[in-house]
Amino acid sequence: MTTPSGYMNMAVPIMIIWLLIILSLCSEAIPEYRYHVCPNTTTFTPNSTYQSNLNQLLSSLTSNFTRDTGFYNISVGQDPGTVVYGLFLCRGDVTITVCQECLTTEAKDLVEEYCPTEKVAVIWYDHCMVRYSNESFFGRMDREPTVILVNTRETADPFQFDQLVQVIVSMNDTVRRAMDASTVKLLTVP
Ligand SMILES: *[C@@H]1O[C@H](CO)[C@@H](O)[C@H](O)[C@H]1NC(C)=O
Ligand SMILES: *[C@@H]1O[C@H](CO)[C@@H](O)[C@H](O)[C@H]1NC(C)=O
Ligand SMILES: *[C@@H]1O[C@H](CO)[C@@H](O)[C@H](O)[C@H]1NC(C)=O
Ligand SMILES: *[C@@H]1O[C@H](CO)[C@@H](O)[C@H](O)[C@H]1NC(C)=O
Ligand SMILES: *[C@@H]1O[C@H](CO)[C@@H](O)[C@H](O)[C@H]1NC(C)=O
Ligand SMILES: *[C@@H]1O[C@H](CO)[C@@H](O)[C@H](O)[C@H]1NC(C)=O
Repeated sequence: MTTPSGYMNMAVPIMIIWLLIILSLCSEAIPEYRYHVCPNTTTFTPNSTYQSNLNQLLSSLTSNFTRDTGFYNISVGQDPGTVVYGLFLCRGDVTITVCQECLTTEAKDLVEEYCPTEKVAVIWYDHCMVRYSNESFFGRMDREPTVILVNTRETADPFQFDQLVQVIVSMNDTVRRAMDASTVKLLTVP
């Protein structure tokens, strides 16, 4: 073989290595599971109306991720006892693509892995959360379930970090922003 083709033979592996590096950089967007809560005291019968309403709810949520607020709530079903209320919230700094990917993964993991027969559930990923229940919780403040997750990594600039935490997590600010649903995405700590 001549030199150009030998050159080509080198170029292909190098391109593949580059692709792998780029893919590994992009893999930051892969939805990361954090925590879920779904008490096994409230379960539904497999193949019941509740289950089909829940499936419809999850597909409605995942197909409505384009809402520019990154938040969406919906209820499915009419008959008492089979209505499902649900919502999702994406982190304010994620793109629509990441939001959709997160919601799709979450919805799938919820029904297949974490909470296959539970009526009431909440699941947190790094980039989004999904919550549903057989009782309406819209527009209501709930203190439970609460989960505290600790990030053990160090911040590059502790002083600036503390300042930001004070600004963003100050209760006054949170309340003000929460009252305006259109800014709900701003609640995220950077
Ligand atoms: C519910 O969860 C508890 C604690 O994990 C377990 O002990 C119990 O057997 C579970 N009940 C059912 C009906 O799966
Ligand atoms: C629910 O429906 C699926 C598919 O229609 C079926 O394979 C499964 O056996 C059913 N499960 C129950 C508990 O009826
Ligand atoms: C998105 O939300 C709208 C309005 O609530 C609903 O009518 C629609 O069915 C949802 N999208 C899908 C594809 O389910
Ligand atoms: C929701 O489910 C729980 C447990 O199955 C039940 O006790 C409660 O009455 C249900 N709520 C509604 C509004 O149907
Ligand atoms: C979403 O929640 C609000 C209350 O916060 C409620 O007024 C509205 O009807 C809910 N939307 C749907 C589609 O259920
Ligand atoms: C929060 O709001 C209260 C009442 O409006 C006010 O008295 C207080 O000074 C505020 N605190 C901060 C840190 O802004």
